[in-house]
Amino acid sequence: MTSEPVDHQHTAARVDELLSRMTPAEKAGQLTQYFYFKLPAGAQPDAALGIDPDAQPRAVEEALARGEAGSLLFVTDPAEINRLQRLAVEGNRLGIPALFGFDVIHGLRTIFPVPIAMAASWDPEIIERGQAVAAREARAVGIHWAFAPMVDVARDPRWGRIVEGAGEDPVLGAAVAAAQVRGFQSPGGIIAGPKHFGGYGAALGGRDYDEVHLSDEELWNVYFPPFQAAVEAGAGNVMTAYMDLNGVPASASHWLFTQVLRDTWGFDGFVVSDANAVRNLVTHGFAPDLTEAGARAVTAGVDMEMAMTDPAYAHLPDAVRDGTVPEEVLDQRVRRVLEAKARQGLLDDPYVDEERAREVLADPAHREAAREAARRSAVLLRNEGDLLPLDAGTLTSIAVLGPLADSRRDTIGPWVFDYDLDETVTVLDGIRAAAGDRVRVDYAQGVPVVSRTFPSLFDMFGGNTPSDPEGFDPEAELARAVEVAAAADVAVVVAGEWQNMIGEAASRSSIELPGRQLELIRAVVATGTPTVLLVMNGRPLDLRWPAEHVPAILDIWYPGSQGGAAVADLLFGTVSPAGKLPFTWPRTVGQIPMIYSHTRSHEPENQARRYWDEASTPLFPFGHGLSYGRFTYTDLTVDQPGVDLDGTVTVTAEVTNTGDREAADVVQLYLHQRHGTASRPVRELKGFQRVVVAPGESRRVTFTVGPQQRRYWHTYARDWALDPSTFDVWVGGDCTADLHGSFEVVAKS
Ligand code: BGC
Repeated sequence: MTSEPVDHQHTAARVDELLSRMTPAEKAGQLTQYFYFKLPAGAQPDAALGIDPDAQPRAVEEALARGEAGSLLFVTDPAEINRLQRLAVEGNRLGIPALFGFDVIHGLRTIFPVPIAMAASWDPEIIERGQAVAAREARAVGIHWAFAPMVDVARDPRWGRIVEGAGEDPVLGAAVAAAQVRGFQSPGGIIAGPKHFGGYGAALGGRDYDEVHLSDEELWNVYFPPFQAAVEAGAGNVMTAYMDLNGVPASASHWLFTQVLRDTWGFDGFVVSDANAVRNLVTHGFAPDLTEAGARAVTAGVDMEMAMTDPAYAHLPDAVRDGTVPEEVLDQRVRRVLEAKARQGLLDDPYVDEERAREVLADPAHREAAREAARRSAVLLRNEGDLLPLDAGTLTSIAVLGPLADSRRDTIGPWVFDYDLDETVTVLDGIRAAAGDRVRVDYAQGVPVVSRTFPSLFDMFGGNTPSDPEGFDPEAELARAVEVAAAADVAVVVAGEWQNMIGEAASRSSIELPGRQLELIRAVVATGTPTVLLVMNGRPLDLRWPAEHVPAILDIWYPGSQGGAAVADLLFGTVSPAGKLPFTWPRTVGQIPMIYSHTRSHEPENQARRYWDEASTPLFPFGHGLSYGRFTYTDLTVDQPGVDLDGTVTVTAEVTNTGDREAADVVQLYLHQRHGTASRPVRELKGFQRVVVAPGESRRVTFTVGPQQRRYWHTYARDWALDPSTFDVWVGGDCTADLHGSFEVVAKS
């Protein structure tokens, strides 16, 4: 995780030496992380934060200079980081530098596709590469630690933070989590902080921050595996979650942070609270005051408190004095934080080279990686009559429509702050550049920009709130869009959610296309011009009408800095889409939650008719994604007809590209246990591989299915179960794969 190899003994000795000289107040300071909240001039902080934008940063500087702030977040300018670092180093008696954290979610300066999009690549290699680039940029400006990856499984797309994670599946989620940790913590990188432990994705009603009730069975089988994978990949940090988990605030759960995280998984990094989550223990009606809130969190295993102002951990010296928190507990927490600083090389060189930071941020290789990531993450949902790829050789005109087609800020998506809009390529820019001079490209916004009913927390950072051009006349503009579409050889409509409609505090009660975008799509299709719909989104949207009437639909997500260039590569067939859905795509909001890995129940023949007014099947299944290649799956073999409980079978299948273009495919393996001591899901993803297949070529793909893949947490046994049974396996291109095999697992006699 650091650029230099670390001598652990030497580090431990230095940390011990520092600890031996620290007072309880200095120790509490090391366990306190402050936002440094400098808003752009004239901006007002969100009222819910309850802070004074002038006083807050000043107070933090004073705390730094008194040695009462061991860590800061929300600074990205290397000169500012050096200035604040100097205040820390020179301010505290022992010269301990501050650790700088930041939400490096999908890039710092070079913005990659949003995390749900990266997960849709099903490609650990590009995911790792992306976070390694992000880490390199972050470390160059002086950031030591990312509050990422978000590895919360999300099965309710009303929850806005589904965009930050890897979707509904624990196996895909675990692979994506581990790849991100490896990327962040690659040589020269930064500390990865998987979050939010645990269960945050299951907020009641999809409403952000609301309580979560999850059975043991769901926690261990579904919500925990990505965290465990992140820990096993060596994550240096874990962040807590805001909400109550089964009636107890997650941020004060000894079970989560000590019994599961440390004692069961062997986590040896440090834990940080989510923002203000320790103070919130009072808000939740859990702790009577800040002193007890701090004492209970630190005892549960939350090493560091993230706070805006007035941290609860400032009261830890009182808790030590009155015996509520033994000083050894405090020492152990501080030791973990100091070790993290030592491993980042901070005790030797706390400053950054501002000139080098500029060079790293400008590295063209980073932009190229972002473009490649955007190409690999797009999902081709529909392609009737092979409308895509477009033939640039025969086209003479393209109409590009929709407000999102030319919005730089929306192209890069939510959870970015240090972006460069000037270098962001929109879909319109990308199509114009790829089409060249010979093809006419006309643009019409078509319909008004839509705003949220309640503004976004993130709008205070400026540049977020979209608006229509001066004098915008919706009816005249729609008519103009129809004219532009009618006059073109092909129409490309970009529709979806504006980026501030998804992310933290961006939950929704509906999944419809906001505003009049569906009207625009219908009007364009009615012109008879072949139409491509590009969906810009971080959650599934109600596309029932387009899925029947628009011949080609490509999900481009929020594709990042180079998004438009990548989209043009896909539209014109430079590369084939190969992304696959990391969630089940519902038809309508009323079906939520809907997962592919449900169990079988009474009248399974009516599974598709559980509602009388709408099919209870997805619009697009989990794992779905089309290609410009044509894939067939044949010849599934299981190497042994039967194995013992601890045995492993090898499953192979052949994937053939019968099409005429090279393309990648993600071959997926699903497992089902026919009977046992619990009923198991109809199918569960247990393996996947992205393979590039030339036209006419066949590739053999191999998976192993052993105890690790077959075991599951049993609610009543309160332990892992491994059943003798008959197991079905399917291999194919999505969760409806029909190429089947089976094997027996027998108990040892
Ligand atoms: C979010 C975290 C984030 C933190 C710092 C919180 O509101 O829940 O995911 O890392 O803010 O920005």
